[in-house]
Amino acid sequence: MKKVLFVDDDPSLINGLKRMLRPLRKEWDMHFVLSGQEALELLSESHFDVIVSDMRMPGINGAELLARVRKLYPHMIRIILSGYSDQALLLKAVRPAHQFLSKPCDAETLKKTVFRVSKIQDILNSSEVKKIIAQVDSLPSLPHLYREITGKLEQEDTAIKDIGEIIQKDIGMSAQILKLVNSSFFGFYNNISSPVQAATLLGLDTIKTLVLSIGIFSSLKYDKEMKIPFQSLWNHSALTASLAKHIAQLISDDKIFISDAYLAGFLHDIGILILASKLPEKYQQVLSRVYDNNENIWEVEQKVLGTSHAEIGAYLLGLWGFSDNTIEAIIRHHKPEVFGDEPKSLIMVLHLADSFAHHLDPAIKELAMAGLNQKYLREINHIEQAKEWFAECKGLYEEGAM
Ligand SMILES: [Fe+2]
Ligand SMILES: [Fe+2]
Repeated sequence: MKKVLFVDDDPSLINGLKRMLRPLRKEWDMHFVLSGQEALELLSESHFDVIVSDMRMPGINGAELLARVRKLYPHMIRIILSGYSDQALLLKAVRPAHQFLSKPCDAETLKKTVFRVSKIQDILNSSEVKKIIAQVDSLPSLPHLYREITGKLEQEDTAIKDIGEIIQKDIGMSAQILKLVNSSFFGFYNNISSPVQAATLLGLDTIKTLVLSIGIFSSLKYDKEMKIPFQSLWNHSALTASLAKHIAQLISDDKIFISDAYLAGFLHDIGILILASKLPEKYQQVLSRVYDNNENIWEVEQKVLGTSHAEIGAYLLGLWGFSDNTIEAIIRHHKPEVFGDEPKSLIMVLHLADSFAHHLDPAIKELAMAGLNQKYLREINHIEQAKEWFAECKGLYEEGAM
């Protein structure tokens, strides 16, 4: 049973929550407190899985509370509940909170959010790795893209479109901006997968605050000794995104499907970025084994870390509220056969795009080892189709159209 802590200084709101969530008392062990201080006391006494906190409270506010919880109880999932008029204050919670809900929050949204994050906890079985990932409050960017965006934001006459286009080129920036716009707090219609659209919706002033004062973006720092091929990871992600979009267009004219395919392609290896930036020494060991013994990257990760970059990336994006389709496709991008999928799914598109990208771009050999899964393609009856698609993608790639 998941243990969930609700914090709000308004007793009538707490009573409302208790009434609303009563039917769930067999599934969740729920506790309710009226201040940040009380919350910290209770947390010091027993283990909780999820915290849902109000933002504006006397004493310790929601952002401060979640920042402390992140430090003291890194395994916990942190959700902020905030009034719309508190938007400026809410930005302070952007880093410590995994998800944002707007007040008043209906029972359905609250239930769905807590259920989803609890379910996502099952993706990973190593509690050590879970702790590390749940603590991630920002992801680093390629240094030149970080310099470019801060430079542009400091200028007076910057257009939001230019900002969106820089964000779109960076894995970390894209994931963080989409985490925000897809939260129910901002009230945009769900499922925005374009970082350019996300930037436009948030607006220049909000992005300026987030980047220049809150510091949601940062520049990758790495030891030159370490052979982590970050630039290759970015190139591979961009190529996989273009290929996924193209394959999606060949099988469907559904705009959302095509845009989801592009995003899944761009973020599919985000787990490598998380591991390489948060556990650099360990990840260096993984890569050395991959280079020296020609072993498969996700198999070595499994041996060294007990999990692979596919699950790690999916786990963080799940905590950040990304769609189930995107998360599933990312978890299975190397091993689509295990679950016997439907053809024409995002899972198939991503698996093909990732494998095509590895075949087409020799510069990323170090991250390669992703072969096409023939057994899977046979099962879904797509072997011939995949050959045709590969020939077409190869043509486009050689023409420079990818
Ligand atoms: Fe991968
Ligand atoms: Fe990949």
